[in-house]
Amino acid sequence: MDHNIRILIPEKEVEEKIRQTAAQISEDYQGKSIHLVSVLKGSVFFACELAKRITVPVTMDFMSVSSYGDNTTSSGVVRIVKDLDAPLEGKDVLVAEDIIDTGRTLHHLMAILEDRNPASLKLAALLDKPDRRVVAVEADYTCFEVPDEFVVGYGLDCAQQYRNLPFIGVVENA
Ligand code: IMP
Ligand code: MG
Repeated sequence: MDHNIRILIPEKEVEEKIRQTAAQISEDYQGKSIHLVSVLKGSVFFACELAKRITVPVTMDFMSVSSYGDNTTSSGVVRIVKDLDAPLEGKDVLVAEDIIDTGRTLHHLMAILEDRNPASLKLAALLDKPDRRVVAVEADYTCFEVPDEFVVGYGLDCAQQYRNLPFIGVVENA
């Protein structure tokens, strides 16, 4: 089915904001290297754009989690579908996520990563939907707050479609 997609945040604005966030991150991690953990699949576009603009050394790793629940509400019980390749011990880990919604997935995921003894653990989110929060999760870096609407593009999907849109859009007839 085709959806009507309204542009919420245009491409130029997304790019500019990621550039600013990367500049802030580069300043905050001066003298360190960043181990950037991207949560598949949604955060891949954000993680790559961010990594390209960070000026301190960056290594990248990927993991895939699924949270039990239906399509629209996550249960917060996270199952690791694909684990990271490398240990986190002693590393300055920055997790890149596409969106914080209820916070359930990230709350559990951050606890799993913290258990692996990184030197530090921070969170960068492309989008935040604060109105939807059920579990307290706060990103160290947030690019945009969005209203409680279903958004797609820049990695975010609706039934696996629209991840490749270069802007953030709202699905009007989901
Ligand atoms: P949480 O556990 O409720 O915070 O779930 C967060 C996950 O739900 C995100 O990583 C997305 O995969 C998905 N999600 C939440 N809101 C949206 C949305 O508006 N569009 C696309 N995916 C979303
Ligand atoms: Mg996700």
